[in-house]
Amino acid sequence: MNRKVHNGRTRSRPRGALAAAAAMSVVAGLLTFGAEATAEKTDDVTTARVDNPYEGAQVYVNPDWSGRASQGGGSAIADEPTFVWMDRTAAINGTEGARGLRAHLDTALDQGADLFQVVIYNLPGRDCSALASNGELPADAIDRYQTEYIDPIAEILGDPAYANLRIVTVVEIDSLPNLITNVAPRETQTENCNTMKANGNYQKGVGYALGALGALPNVYNYIDIGHHGWLGWDDNFEPFADLVMNETVTNNGASPEDVHGFVSNVANYGVLHEEHFDANTVIGGRPVREASDWVDWNRYVDEVSYAKAYGELFSQRFGRRISMLIDTSRNGWGGADRPSGPSSSTDPNTFVEESRIDGRIHTGNWCNQSGAGIGERPTASPEEGIDAFVWVKPPGESDGSSEEIPNDEGKGFDRMCDPTYEGNPRNGNNMSGALADAPLSGHWFQAQFSELVQNAYPPL
Ligand code: BGC
Repeated sequence: MNRKVHNGRTRSRPRGALAAAAAMSVVAGLLTFGAEATAEKTDDVTTARVDNPYEGAQVYVNPDWSGRASQGGGSAIADEPTFVWMDRTAAINGTEGARGLRAHLDTALDQGADLFQVVIYNLPGRDCSALASNGELPADAIDRYQTEYIDPIAEILGDPAYANLRIVTVVEIDSLPNLITNVAPRETQTENCNTMKANGNYQKGVGYALGALGALPNVYNYIDIGHHGWLGWDDNFEPFADLVMNETVTNNGASPEDVHGFVSNVANYGVLHEEHFDANTVIGGRPVREASDWVDWNRYVDEVSYAKAYGELFSQRFGRRISMLIDTSRNGWGGADRPSGPSSSTDPNTFVEESRIDGRIHTGNWCNQSGAGIGERPTASPEEGIDAFVWVKPPGESDGSSEEIPNDEGKGFDRMCDPTYEGNPRNGNNMSGALADAPLSGHWFQAQFSELVQNAYPPL
């Protein structure tokens, strides 16, 4: 297969400096990973990305999170690797309680880490279907996104000092999935998502990020696929793949080679395996897919089946193996309420309600879920079709405040984080299932952390 390679000659880059840095680290990358890399020669340059970046890699542990986790009663997991979130422009240089990007990378080198994980999360009009993580850039600020946010990040990541680190990026969670489900004419539409669909700035921003970061040969870009309870329905599943392929991975400087894979369940709570049923299980003569309110015609009831299905679809669409990750930071659902076996009910609804491990009220619930636990610890190649379980959402960091809290971080108040809220069409008008007394999204939420530790599955 002839893969197009990112360098100054075959592709025009916004800035010469970036292209030069990229070319230098091609060489450095080869020296380090040459033995295990599936290096592919094209006419002029050799690429050196490995197939699964997690394989054999020591992953950076963020000391800022680690300190809070160990002080908060989580010493058993405090040395696990979590993603660093660049959740606003100021995060690049560091904010209170969080070192900046360069300081993280330097600490990674000090740790002797091979792999560094970062979330790129600052699109214009961010988080269009919710309010808790709205972000700092207005809907039309695509130029600022590119020059004030992505370019400086690309510059730092492209420093030859970091060329031997594999850098895994999760690019702009929730954005593309929102353009499928939360737009007109659907009942789930929001005004902000309609605006973002109309102006195209999510696709442009993601395209720019993929291109600028993908120009660095040690960067592995992963695009967010929401989770099974979001895009698992037929109306959403293939249209999302079309959105990715037709409007994003060739947009605004990106090319398909800039995408290494996709990530599921980021900051969400879907279980890896519903152990006691799948969508096609027949109870009382009917498949639960059509007969249970919980499944409600979804093809998927859990994250592994969903991620694998997208892995196969995208591998076909890209014409090469596509890597899949799952965020398992908070999908454990252990503790006393975890069902130990399938229900004996012959009523499909009762059967699913009594058998399901996912303890939420509705799969559309996403904020600080009551009863959740830490999930599988980060692992490389945990099972066929999945390259790694990762902790993208650092456990203990809030999803959003349960009441309005004034702030200068671009965080709004979303009633999905209020335990008294009775819901909206996006969660089937159910109760939010959120814990009370939560701080702003991203801030430390000790009561939640304690519950996550207690309900960990596998137990700690
Ligand atoms: C917040 C970010 C935070 C991230 C990780 C998001 O919901 O908006 O500020 O960094 O979660 O906790």
